[in-house]
Amino acid sequence: MPELDEIYATNSSTWWNENGPLKLIHVTNDIVVPYYLDVICQRFSKTSPINVKLLDVGCGGGLCTEKFGEAGYSVIGIDINPDLINIAKNHLHSSLRNVSYYTESIETHAENNAEKYDVVVINFVIQHLTDHEVFVRNCVECLKPGGTVLIGALGKNTGAWLMRKIYIEKMLKLFPPGLYDYNRCINASDLESMLKKYKCKTQETRGFFYNFLTGKFGWFPSSMGYYVLYAIKKD
Ligand SMILES: C[S@@+](CC[C@H](N)C(=O)[O-])C[C@H]1O[C@@H](n2cnc3c(N)ncnc32)[C@H](O)[C@@H]1O
Repeated sequence: MPELDEIYATNSSTWWNENGPLKLIHVTNDIVVPYYLDVICQRFSKTSPINVKLLDVGCGGGLCTEKFGEAGYSVIGIDINPDLINIAKNHLHSSLRNVSYYTESIETHAENNAEKYDVVVINFVIQHLTDHEVFVRNCVECLKPGGTVLIGALGKNTGAWLMRKIYIEKMLKLFPPGLYDYNRCINASDLESMLKKYKCKTQETRGFFYNFLTGKFGWFPSSMGYYVLYAIKKD
């Protein structure tokens, strides 16, 4: 089975191609990015967007990061993969001066940026990790008290996993084989408990599923497959 970095390196040049091998990331972002923007807009309705500091952890080629930048927020995108940071930098329009990218892990970033951000976004990174708790702790460390953390993730559920494997990977080929590892997924309830341990109270968890008829994701009353959540760090 190829390693994650290898999969992303092989497909990095097509990162921004909506119909390329990483199509799933694009269709997922179609539902989660408007949700993230709504939550941020509501939480910071009294603050000018440029004064809202946002960290996009594991930003990849910048698909979400740019959307936050276009909405006017002050955005920093970090990723451990230098190829993806190059893709993100090359794609960025020079007019988006409020967006910066760095090749850096969250572990290193947290050492020098404690309580710096109003918003931390973790969009579909967690399902690639072995130590979820250390990652969550470092992300929360970067968040100001009263700040908001937004997370998109894959639930750890056998039925949802088989659907994803058989239909989305093998039949529809919406992502390359080996991109996801069942053991690295995490259920929303476990993530909520982890956040609580680091003083973040979950405000909402929303499930969504892939609709094979429309080729799009739609909201769903269960978070066993895909979900987003947002939590607020205690003041
Ligand atoms: C599926 S991609 C997510 C891409 C992006 N968030 C998006 O929605 O378009 C996961 C990314 O997380 C990055 N990553 C994994 N562990 C990380 C860490 N400890 N610190 C920073 N980035 C990390 C990987 O290099 C990869 O690019």
